[in-house]
Amino acid sequence: MEMVDLIVKKRQGGTLSAEELQWFVRGVTDDSLPDYQVSAMLMAMFLQGLDESETALLTVAMADSGDRIDLTSVPGIKVDKHSTGGVADTTTLLLVPMVAACGVPVMKMSGRGLGFTGGTLDKLESIPGFRVGLTVEEAVAQCRRIGAVIMGQTGDLCPADRKLYALRDVTGTVDSIPLIAASIMSKKIAAGADAVVLDVKCGNGAFMKTLDEARRLSASMVGIGKAAGRDVAAVISSMDQPLGSHVGNALEVAEAIDVLSGRTAGDLLEVAVTLGAHMLVLARGADSIAHGRQRLMDHLRDGSALEKLRELIAAQGGDPAVCDDTSRLPTARVVRALRTARDGFIGSMDTAGIGHVFVRLGGGRLTKGQPVDPAAGLVLSGRIGDRVRAGDVLVSVHGATEEAVGQGIRALETCIRIVDEKPELPRNVLEIVMADDVS
Ligand code: URA
Repeated sequence: MEMVDLIVKKRQGGTLSAEELQWFVRGVTDDSLPDYQVSAMLMAMFLQGLDESETALLTVAMADSGDRIDLTSVPGIKVDKHSTGGVADTTTLLLVPMVAACGVPVMKMSGRGLGFTGGTLDKLESIPGFRVGLTVEEAVAQCRRIGAVIMGQTGDLCPADRKLYALRDVTGTVDSIPLIAASIMSKKIAAGADAVVLDVKCGNGAFMKTLDEARRLSASMVGIGKAAGRDVAAVISSMDQPLGSHVGNALEVAEAIDVLSGRTAGDLLEVAVTLGAHMLVLARGADSIAHGRQRLMDHLRDGSALEKLRELIAAQGGDPAVCDDTSRLPTARVVRALRTARDGFIGSMDTAGIGHVFVRLGGGRLTKGQPVDPAAGLVLSGRIGDRVRAGDVLVSVHGATEEAVGQGIRALETCIRIVDEKPELPRNVLEIVMADDVS
């Protein structure tokens, strides 16, 4: 088989066979295919799409590109969670300790930032000493001991996805329904959980811009899960504004700690509790969504969820004292404010634009493997529908230099629109797709 022939076949809209897809994934995994040919194939797949059967075959080939994790030694139903990627989407840092505090073990493999979206691993690495690179044995032992793990993909888990993900990030091939579905579901299948809750982001700060696209991605992933014998639910949630108020690596860790400490609440907590309640129901840790919500909130209020985060940070070599004092997290040298020019209401936000500002401040990557600045980012003072007065601080921008922060402020001026009339408030959770909803 020649790679150039496969690229041309897909470029012309052909359907790749099981053998061709397996050969492609093997070549990605063992590095026999050069990045330029893999990138060209990704672009052909992005432009021509993959049908249901190609997507399922690609997913299985990627799941089989490395080890599959055996979680049978961890008691109970193991439930995993994955977000398709958003801005200020810090739900994992809330959910893992909250669900684990309810007695349901969570061994979560997370990713790095992708495109304009943040990544949980980059956020956690802003905690001094925190180690995301656990071996499977270490992770399983930690999961048995404290019921909570957040780690990077191990070298042997879905190596094909790790390579494809890094190339997609820098070749403009991220926001493709089949590529996202195969990337997420291959990792979830290989990671061994019995059940998975997917947070499918939808809106101007998500890879899926419309509800229709989000539904199609949800159905594709729930269908792949069903075929692989996993209980999967997809929650479609809005990304028409950043989910939390903090966009940044250390900044989002600080926000998660504030929420778990009960100092702040809002949309981030609301979406996390919805996802967590579905995780509890799938893991038989709650009888209904309402019961799940109540259990999660009880564990937030009694401090046990924050305590679980503290245990998780300590177990992975991080400084657990950040849970009591978030000023121990890295802070930016330069912090400047963008102020409102006139009275009105926050009418809309260009969420992807805000994510791009975060990337350009150094919080994300513009080239493969680039290091990120843990302290860079921004803090939004308001949400859509909030009243503002001329001169109010709209955003605080955190960066390493005056120049970077100045550029960030200028870029943000066009990302937040102030209007005269109070706009309709966006809903946080738009729809739920369960296994029974797909064929
Ligand atoms: N998250 C993933 O793991 N993969 C994607 O392709 C997009 C979001």
